[in-house]
Amino acid sequence: MYTIFRRIATMVPALILVATLLPASQSVAAIAGSNHDFSGDGWSGGQICEVCHTPHNSDTTVENAPLWDHELTTQVFVPYASPTLDATDVGQPGGASKLCLSCHDGSVALDSFGGTTGTIFMTGNDAVGTGGQLADDHPISFTYDTALATLDGGLHDPATTGSGLGSTIADDMLFASAMECSSCHDVHNADGHAQLLRVSNAGSALCLTCHSK
Ligand code: HEC
Ligand code: HEC
Ligand code: HEC
Ligand code: HEC
Repeated sequence: MYTIFRRIATMVPALILVATLLPASQSVAAIAGSNHDFSGDGWSGGQICEVCHTPHNSDTTVENAPLWDHELTTQVFVPYASPTLDATDVGQPGGASKLCLSCHDGSVALDSFGGTTGTIFMTGNDAVGTGGQLADDHPISFTYDTALATLDGGLHDPATTGSGLGSTIADDMLFASAMECSSCHDVHNADGHAQLLRVSNAGSALCLTCHSK
């Protein structure tokens, strides 16, 4: 009896250690329960993924779209412009961002997916690019490379600067060298930060990942 208790007693610290380590290593954030989990909304049919993706008959209009199932926006956008902007190729939203705007610009119903035309539109703070207005938003859909960083002088070199997410800014945050909505956000909430951010913006940490100010 005694030895069994002794064994259990010596195991306790190890068990506590395991118990304290496991939640941390297992608490991988995910889309379930995030603001992009619509499975609790009647219009989603209880699905999480299929509001945006489909295994078959996907929409291939947008280049490299991941098995896309949601109706796409057809708005023509006014891009960000400023006299101090060095990037010269800020144009219409690139593929990845067009996917986001297909709900966020408020022109396509949230529940327009899988071939059905819905009726619930995005309004309020979460609406970005309404009326095609992107001039009041951080620039997207332009090339951010070593040359731009050199020209600007206030940007980190994306090819060599770490993102804090495991590799470089270019690897982790850019889409074929382009800045998109998903450079700053993770649509699947993999990182678990408020506002689906890729890097927490506490103390402007997200901004300072790319800007050396
Ligand atoms: C609100 C829309 C939305 C929902 C819901 C969604 N995704 Fe995505 N998914 C996207 C977008 C947009 C991309 C394009 C890449 C990006 O912007 O990060 C993408 C990319 C992907 C990719 C390819 C790139 C990668 O990240 O590996 C996979 C695989 C994927 N999604 C799987 C899923 C699965 C599985 C679910 C459900 C558990 C899901 N997605 C739910 C919007 C969504
Ligand atoms: C199927 C429609 C749909 C698509 C596609 C979509 N979103 Fe959303 N998103 C929503 C809705 C609806 C909300 C608001 C949810 C709420 O407030 O409960 C939201 C909320 C958000 C929020 C705020 C989250 C928060 O915690 O406050 C961000 C940021 C966001 N989306 C970014 C994106 C980005 C970036 C993309 C593309 C990569 C994208 N969304 C694609 C529907 C969509
Ligand atoms: C340069 C980084 C960056 C880019 C690019 C970016 N966002 Fe954001 N976004 C943020 C930050 C940071 C916040 C949180 C703002 C705050 O707390 O005031 C945010 C907030 C949001 C919200 C929540 C709004 C709210 O008031 O709660 C939505 C929705 C959103 N972004 C969608 C988008 C969409 C769609 C795109 C592409 C068209 C995009 N974002 C591009 C950094 C970015
Ligand atoms: C993934 C990298 C990245 C992140 C994160 C990022 N930016 Fe940027 N930002 C850029 C790049 C690249 C430009 C284009 C600069 C240029 O061409 O002059 C830019 C442009 C800007 C501009 C416009 C500059 C001008 O001359 O008109 C402002 C302001 C700005 N960012 C502020 C922010 C803020 C604030 C945040 C955090 C919420 C942020 N950025 C996050 C990469 C980033």
